[in-house]
Amino acid sequence: TTTYLTGIQTSGEPHIGNYIGAIKPALAAAGAHETLYFLADYHSLNSVKDPAKLRHDIRAVASTWLACGLDPQRTILYRQSSIPEVFELSVILANVTPKGLMNRAHAYKAARDRNAAAGVEDLDAGVNMGLFNYPILMAADILIMETDYVPVGRDQAQHIEYAADIAQSFNHLYGDTYRFPIPEGDFPQGDASVLPGTDGQKMSKSYDNHIPLFLPENKLKKLVRRIPTDSTPVEEPKDPDSSVPFQLLAQFASAEHTASVRARLEAGGMGWGELKNELFDTLNTEFAPMRARYDELMSPDSDLDAILEDGARRARERARRVLAQVRSAVGMA
Ligand code: TYM
Repeated sequence: TTTYLTGIQTSGEPHIGNYIGAIKPALAAAGAHETLYFLADYHSLNSVKDPAKLRHDIRAVASTWLACGLDPQRTILYRQSSIPEVFELSVILANVTPKGLMNRAHAYKAARDRNAAAGVEDLDAGVNMGLFNYPILMAADILIMETDYVPVGRDQAQHIEYAADIAQSFNHLYGDTYRFPIPEGDFPQGDASVLPGTDGQKMSKSYDNHIPLFLPENKLKKLVRRIPTDSTPVEEPKDPDSSVPFQLLAQFASAEHTASVRARLEAGGMGWGELKNELFDTLNTEFAPMRARYDELMSPDSDLDAILEDGARRARERARRVLAQVRSAVGMA
């Protein structure tokens, strides 16, 4: 059997970029493959330093998976923090990971670039070891479950390559007794791989440009209306491909619907306001039923905790089995 695994950080409520890049493709894999999807709660400790917010975000991400259609009978849904084997494996993996690989990691380099741009002398200022080690922990998430494919957006491509590199270094040293399968990314096609936010940059929880999945209807409408557009008059022809609302619409509307909106924009006569109304209707139609289920799951008496406990038990059984082989391969057992 083929194993699919992916995780979402518990650092804010998931947005439509997470849905298109990871949640939807991951759920599509759930029928035909073995699937393990988890909450990367320890990864989010790097950015979330408020315990009440962290607790909330953990529930929010778990509820999102379930509201979007994850069937806990078919897919193992669990919290990373419930699987101590992940953390033990990450210590082992750190010892086969060249520091230079981590020096080249995008998130770490971006932090240094920001310091350089701001004229800060110590380029590592504000960088903690959680950020520096982030890719090793992520490799442990993936390898502990003997993952074959990781459904993620393109922004995670380097992390998947690193997990593969780290698996290869381990196999090179210990492959006579235990070998990790080499994981591969499973990326959505084309534009969907990095969905733009309302400002045209990558949609991200850390920028003020994201559209949360389960915004109440009136807030969603307001947010869609606020997406910046140029001042081309209604009757003038417009370029759909440079328009954020159009790019977003294209991810959610049917092919026919998208083609007809494209034609109307190119011909002139369709204004940005009308385009945004279509975008709002399309998003609202897709997410309204899930929003209702999400709200139920978020209530304190829902069965969320029981589902996560059951998932943790099953995930842990598997992690224990793999870790035992790894410990023995390195000589710890
Ligand atoms: P995170 O929490 O930032 O994002 C979760 C998933 O959403 C995808 N994504 C996007 N896809 C398309 N367009 C966007 N604008 C967009 N923004 C986010 C991400 O690619 C990701 O698939 N490091 C991971 C969490 C993680 C993980 C793992 C993932 C930890 N361990 C092991 C896979 C396997 C992260 O920060 O994702």
